[in-house]
Amino acid sequence: MAGIVIIGSQWGDEGKGKITDLLTKEADTVVRFQGGNNAGHTIVVGDEVFKLHLIPSGVIYEKKCMISSGVVLDPRVLIQEIQQLEASGKKIDLVIDPLTHIILPYHNVLDGAQESYRSKSTKKIGTTKRGIGPCYADKVSRTGIRFIDLLNPKRFEELLTFNYTLKSAILTQVYQQELTPSLAETLETYNQLADQLRPYLGDVSGMVHKDVKDKTVLFEGAQGTFLDISYGNYPYVTSSNTISGGIFVNVGIPPMSLKVIGVVKAYTTRVGGGPFPTELENEMGEQIRQNGQEFGTTTGRPRRCGWLDLVMLKYAHRLNGFTELALTKLDVLSGLESLEVAVAYELDGKRVDFPLTAEQLEKCTPVLKTFEGFEMAQEISTYDDLPEKAQTYLQFIENYLEVPIGWVSYGPKRSETLRIEKVSVA
Ligand code: IMP
Repeated sequence: MAGIVIIGSQWGDEGKGKITDLLTKEADTVVRFQGGNNAGHTIVVGDEVFKLHLIPSGVIYEKKCMISSGVVLDPRVLIQEIQQLEASGKKIDLVIDPLTHIILPYHNVLDGAQESYRSKSTKKIGTTKRGIGPCYADKVSRTGIRFIDLLNPKRFEELLTFNYTLKSAILTQVYQQELTPSLAETLETYNQLADQLRPYLGDVSGMVHKDVKDKTVLFEGAQGTFLDISYGNYPYVTSSNTISGGIFVNVGIPPMSLKVIGVVKAYTTRVGGGPFPTELENEMGEQIRQNGQEFGTTTGRPRRCGWLDLVMLKYAHRLNGFTELALTKLDVLSGLESLEVAVAYELDGKRVDFPLTAEQLEKCTPVLKTFEGFEMAQEISTYDDLPEKAQTYLQFIENYLEVPIGWVSYGPKRSETLRIEKVSVA
């Protein structure tokens, strides 16, 4: 009887997979509603590590999983994930919305070509090169190919031929690059994929509409608030709406009241280009990167690391309407002598709110508040087992954001999580 949304409150990689995995136990249905295989969720169950890019994390609990039309779907990656999960004995109950747009090889090639071209004149975005931007661009340009089109061989051939010819001309004439694989090869590969994926077709919008009335539906966000195409640090963003309001249009359900869980990493990371006011380009940043193993799940790139930024989190709360926070990776800060947190921004010597443009954000200097460091205890089973100085850190976050922290995660395992049911916000 509820809709619960999991949203990344920073630049992605906040540990949403683990929180989704924990909440999945209570859910009947788990829905992925935006992005594609640019995302990467790592879930640790006992000795098994699952790395998922497309299929909702609910699959680990063998729950009903759905991919809604707001996603861009790479069928090659999806089949690989299905095969891997089946090989580890998981039963897959997956439904894909017919209106979901699919990623084709030319989207990947164009993503790479556009990035190299951009780096000549402006700064690179640092995309994952998974074809996400070009696929969403085709959707908006009304030349995209949807899952339903892929399942109709005649229609698929027509659409693919049109797109392939157009993209090939752009690639050779503008980017001086050959388009591979060939049209015939692409057609053959995707027709085979279509046959494998046909059983997963279903009306996700209709099913979710029904399920939210009497079941618990978990909406699993990918990327993070500041990668949102409209409200992130444009152009250093992904190509979808990552904030909670995006759910309604991306799933095809009317606006309704949802529980919104904002996942906050105890510090900040970012992959790719763009401004980052609390970034630590020094030994401390390197220490956090190593302690937190901050390397991309999808691309393996080292993540940029910095202090927690409450100014951006306050803005994230405004955009998403968090009802609770899940604070992750607290253990990574254990052992540091002191910690800093951004509590305000200054621009040209004046205090400013979170700015609307990446150019202004680039020029903002964070005002930092220092906290004493803490050492995590070996055994933690209640909130009181957390070091007092860690509690001070958490209470400051809650009070600043005026949102209760409902979960504290202090390690990758399911067991390394505290559920805090009654947190008072002063
Ligand atoms: P794209 O989504 O591949 O187009 O990449 C656009 C920007 O979003 C780049 O800065 C990527 O590094 C970033 N990005 C995309 N997906 C993720 C994610 O799941 N976690 C963190 N950053 C991401």
